[in-house]
Amino acid sequence: MTVVHPEAGVFNRSHELSARAHEQVVFCEDDRSGLKAIIAVHSTALGPALGGTRFYPYADESAALQDVLRLSWGMTYKAAAAGVDLGGGKAVIIGDPATAKSEELLAAYARFVDTLGGRYITAGDVGTDTDDLDVIGRHTRHVTGRSVGAGGSGDSATLTALGVFHAMRAGAESVWGAPTLAGRTVGVEGVGKVGRELTALLLADGAEVCVTDVNEAALRRIATEHPEVRLLSTVATAPVDVYAPCALGATLTTATAATIEAELVCGAANNQLATPDVEAALTGRGITWVPDFVANSGGLIQVAGELRALHRPRWKPRWPTSSRAVARSSPRRSPTVSAPAPPPTGSPNAVSTPSPARSERARVSRRRHSGDHERVVPHEICRAVDPGHR
Ligand SMILES: NC(=O)c1ccc[n+]([C@@H]2O[C@H](COP(=O)([O-])OP(=O)(O)OC[C@H]3O[C@@H](n4cnc5c(N)ncnc54)[C@H](O)[C@@H]3O)[C@@H](O)[C@H]2O)c1
Repeated sequence: MTVVHPEAGVFNRSHELSARAHEQVVFCEDDRSGLKAIIAVHSTALGPALGGTRFYPYADESAALQDVLRLSWGMTYKAAAAGVDLGGGKAVIIGDPATAKSEELLAAYARFVDTLGGRYITAGDVGTDTDDLDVIGRHTRHVTGRSVGAGGSGDSATLTALGVFHAMRAGAESVWGAPTLAGRTVGVEGVGKVGRELTALLLADGAEVCVTDVNEAALRRIATEHPEVRLLSTVATAPVDVYAPCALGATLTTATAATIEAELVCGAANNQLATPDVEAALTGRGITWVPDFVANSGGLIQVAGELRALHRPRWKPRWPTSSRAVARSSPRRSPTVSAPAPPPTGSPNAVSTPSPARSERARVSRRRHSGDHERVVPHEICRAVDPGHR
């Protein structure tokens, strides 16, 4: 038997994520427009694979492949948890959208999407917006998330932010006993399309919000819109009650899990866990993590509705039952452990000091932790999309 070094091939890469290999990975290259893209179809067990197109200046092609494999795998779980009868897929275009994006390149990309005949349906993601999807929609019908003017349902960021907000409320109820962020400090990492809308919802709910972003313009915009927001260089390890990752994935590492002060982690970013063991590290410290594929499914539900509306105009989107999902994934599931009283507002130390109740919760959660997606997605669906999944 030939042993292939993990970095040497592409086939064994998907096994780093799960027992089931990706169904199809398509490498797309067009010399005229400079397009280099990868489309990954993880699973079509529940329906056609839907997932956005990320346009990003990856350090190298290996990083792009790694990202698209992880993102498409996550989409399988997101669709399964949301119950939208879709599979998981994703695409990445390699390059800086600020300089590399052109109508010719998007058209070339759309023609590759079209060759898949509907096994993969694309949508927006980091680096792509409704205008881009309108261009793509002129060359393939396998696209969703177009502008309202072009017959689509518009930018999905608004419903994604609303979904994250409700997931956070469900998390707050699980952690502090009431479904509100009033009086809590929330750190939003990334104030782009979703983070910006989430910030407005949190402020309206009575939360104190601090934000960070690597983009100066994004920070200036949020400071103008909401002068009461505090700008920080980092929020992941700041003394906040809730950490909301809304930028890119993999910000939760074993190192951040060990130092994080928030009691609740809930945000829009896909693939928040750098490695699967981070979930156990968080749970072990009594920190509730709302799985990203549950918290951020509002946009998927919207674009799934857009697809269904083609056939059933009165179809209404179904919201994921966040509370049930949080209850299943929370370290505070034990009925014998009661929720602590909310800390006095305005006392930053009150939220970060580990209490005896928190230590007890951590002990209980360590015993109960199972560390996989089956706590959120029903077992039979997990088996259907990922048969070897423990
Ligand atoms: N837009 C949607 O409908 C949707 C749906 C589901 C999931 N998501 C996920 O939510 C996240 C945000 O999506 P978006 O549409 O708002 O993207 P966006 O590109 O509009 O915003 C991302 C923001 O994060 C900032 N950022 C990047 N790296 C950062 C870092 N290291 N620290 C701080 N800020 C950083 C960027 O400058 C930008 O302002 C992404 O991970 C995306 O995959 C988005």
